[in-house]
Amino acid sequence: MKESDNCGFRIEKTIIHILLKSAFSIPHSAILLTPDARLSRLQTMLVLGIESSCDETAAAIVRDGSVLVSSVISSQIDIHKRFGGVVPELASREHLDKIVPVVEEAFERAKLKKEEIDGIAVTAGPGLVGSLLVGVSYAKAMAFALIKPLIGVNHIEGHIYSVAFENPPVEYPAMALIVSGGHTNLFLVPEPGKYKVVARTRDDAAGEAYDKVAKMLGLGYPGGPIIEKLAREGDPRSVYFSVPRMGDRKPDFSFSGLKTAVSKYVRETGLQPVANGEEPSQAIKNLAASFQSVVIRSLTGTMERLAEEHRPKTLIVAGGVACNNALREASREAAERLGVPVYFPSPHLSTDNAAMIAAAGTVKLRTGERAGWDLNADVSLRLQNVDVEDEALRQRGVHYKL
Ligand code: KG4
Ligand code: ZN
Repeated sequence: MKESDNCGFRIEKTIIHILLKSAFSIPHSAILLTPDARLSRLQTMLVLGIESSCDETAAAIVRDGSVLVSSVISSQIDIHKRFGGVVPELASREHLDKIVPVVEEAFERAKLKKEEIDGIAVTAGPGLVGSLLVGVSYAKAMAFALIKPLIGVNHIEGHIYSVAFENPPVEYPAMALIVSGGHTNLFLVPEPGKYKVVARTRDDAAGEAYDKVAKMLGLGYPGGPIIEKLAREGDPRSVYFSVPRMGDRKPDFSFSGLKTAVSKYVRETGLQPVANGEEPSQAIKNLAASFQSVVIRSLTGTMERLAEEHRPKTLIVAGGVACNNALREASREAAERLGVPVYFPSPHLSTDNAAMIAAAGTVKLRTGERAGWDLNADVSLRLQNVDVEDEALRQRGVHYKL
């Protein structure tokens, strides 16, 4: 990133501060960006995506919803590492620092001027409120200044669209398994933009379980990639953990009990966590492999069972945990048995990024959907709009909150 634009950074930063302080005081009805009809007829559409829901500040420019023109991700892993997880206050400060240079760099890499984009898509939720506010405020300020259409995107819907770049077009109905540090949901997607949750975690997300188990074993943060690496050298049958099942026989996931079972195993066997810089023992590798094996069996077993029931034409596996090669392999095997293709994002599009937000936003902008100036961060934004009563849908607009 260049330091040359400091003055510009300061001005734009001030805009964010003003917007944050005024708590979006621009009246709802003030201006609605309405080059709608022209936009939907455009042959080519360039959309800027902005993502800041958790610990990555990201901006990307995407052409026609599937061609990656530029993508910049500023990760905060080094800041949160020593705490073993994301510290919300530190995260929002860092977003505030990085949002302007990250967006600038996305335009520089794309060799485009800001006026050349056709719309802006920003993550509106779910996520950490302070983090989301930075992206939403910045996107609103930019859309206002450039007189460009603005759309809010559900972060989880973004993960579903992360497969739009390097795969054939998705055939519907599709089934999407979204597994990340914050979410573990299985969706039936009967058509683009329609979502029905068919299974969800009752407690921890799968990535969260990876992170917590890694912390328990002294392995560092984020836990997913470290546990995956150690699991390759471990025996997955060495420690028995059962696949969690719900008492009410619903197909939901649960990972908190598994985390407790790992902790109990550590306590009862006297297994020592890895000390700084030490090579993990074979017992730790075996435990990592056994833990990972049950997480993957739970995820893919449920996906396969529900796919047999709902008969999707495409499977999608996305989110940070979809970086995991053992999960990919097990998903491929399940898809083969089901006789359908399975699409994954490439690893850099599996974890949080803005390209997926731009891709999801493009579909909405093309259909004429727009956010008003009252677009706000919604920390608990849900993604489900099938089988939800019409009244709830009318009241919630595009938010589909249950
Ligand atoms: O999608 P993401 O970047 O952020 C959220 O929306 O949560 O996902 C981050 C999560 C972390 O919990 C991390 O441990 C996990 O994805 N993860 C992995 C792997 N790489 C990242 N989990 C298992 N295996 C991996 N290789
Ligand atoms: Zn995510």
